[in-house]
Amino acid sequence: MQNHILIYNRIPKFKKKIEVSSDKSLSIRSVLLASQAVGRSKISNLLDSEDVQNALKTIKKLGIVYKKQKNFYEIHGFGLNGFSIKKNLVIDAGNSGTLARLILGLLVKSNFKIKLIGDKSLSRRDFSRVIYPLKLFGVNIKSKNGSLPVEIIGTNFLRPISFTENKSSAQIKTCLIFCALNSPGTSFIKAKKSRNHTELLLKYLKYPIQIKSKGEYDYIKVKGLNQFSAFNYTVPGDISSATFFIILTLLSKKSEIVIKKVNINKTRIGIIKILNLMNAKIRLKNKKIYKGEEIADIFVKSSNNFKSINCPSNLNSSAIDELLIIICLIASKAKGVSKFSKLGELNKKESRRLDMAIKFLKMIGIKVERKKDNIKVYGNPQLSLNGNYEMKNFLKDHRVFMMSCIAALTLGGKWKIYDKDSINTSFPKFLNILKKLGAKIN
Ligand code: S3P
Repeated sequence: MQNHILIYNRIPKFKKKIEVSSDKSLSIRSVLLASQAVGRSKISNLLDSEDVQNALKTIKKLGIVYKKQKNFYEIHGFGLNGFSIKKNLVIDAGNSGTLARLILGLLVKSNFKIKLIGDKSLSRRDFSRVIYPLKLFGVNIKSKNGSLPVEIIGTNFLRPISFTENKSSAQIKTCLIFCALNSPGTSFIKAKKSRNHTELLLKYLKYPIQIKSKGEYDYIKVKGLNQFSAFNYTVPGDISSATFFIILTLLSKKSEIVIKKVNINKTRIGIIKILNLMNAKIRLKNKKIYKGEEIADIFVKSSNNFKSINCPSNLNSSAIDELLIIICLIASKAKGVSKFSKLGELNKKESRRLDMAIKFLKMIGIKVERKKDNIKVYGNPQLSLNGNYEMKNFLKDHRVFMMSCIAALTLGGKWKIYDKDSINTSFPKFLNILKKLGAKIN
């Protein structure tokens, strides 16, 4: 089957209301936490994507029964450490860094050896970031060079830890919180701020977890070995998926969009803050709190006078998955020179996104300078393309694929973009929604 797409035309003007796919972080967390709850949880609006399917397959392999009902998934948990592991197992996390890092925190007491593997992209990612602190808990875990395959065999002699997480990584933080759930005593995690969905879910479940925020850090106290009951949860829309349509609308002429019921958790809306600082007028309306998370409708209109930004690096973590498209498609169109700093974590994603952004900017004729992990982008508000462009060899990074589609639909030129199936990782409906808005994609 053909796995590339061709885009030869800009999208015509549109005015629409849409819903994007459900939040990936919350989908994976709700599946994993339901597997550790006591009783039958019901998760509605679960993201139907490969990463989440891999989470479901993983808990099934670990002895948890789930059923897909018409409008929800029913997951039968047996409490903390309630997996039933009867032999050595291999778990394949596919492309999902979140699943791979988080599940390790729940395997710390398994009585057989578990080997964790993943696809080509995941196999080059860093696991020493979780292996090191898990060892402090007393976990038996090893890998050859800090990457997959990782082998873990559980122990009954875990101890609580005090640890400082300095990378602003929610995956590391959650892995450690999960391990702390299984450890006796109280663990202390000082974590540089990052998405806090795990903490909010555990609080909602009345788990004994305390969070205090001070400056750039959250101080998290987790009391281990408490049970929590099964729960019902409806997953809201994903702001990372909404981002592609926010930027499509901003860059298209005379267009408007409303994106309904999106999670606007404060640790996720760096994209809105950065774009509004650059002159976009994105509004959040109909705000509601749902089980600790904030949800809203996002209103966006076309805009053609972006100003450059000296992006405060403390916004990086709340826009970690959105920086690629902001840099490639908004900083490139802004008036003046935009500066982004401390971007090292971007190279730790599904592909080396910092390197990718620089390559992309050069390809579309935008001057960019890099010093270590800091870049300067020389924007061109008149940027309009008419050449031929080909995007391939990006390790099937879903966000690189989707960003390239938005570039093709807004900047002009003739584009051939490979690895269409990468969208199945996080946003299988992506191309269908674009087509409904009027995009011509072959
Ligand atoms: C995620 C955390 C982020 C993000 C990823 C999802 C999560 O990774 O890039 O797409 O659900 O915890 P890091 O925590 O490694 O920055």
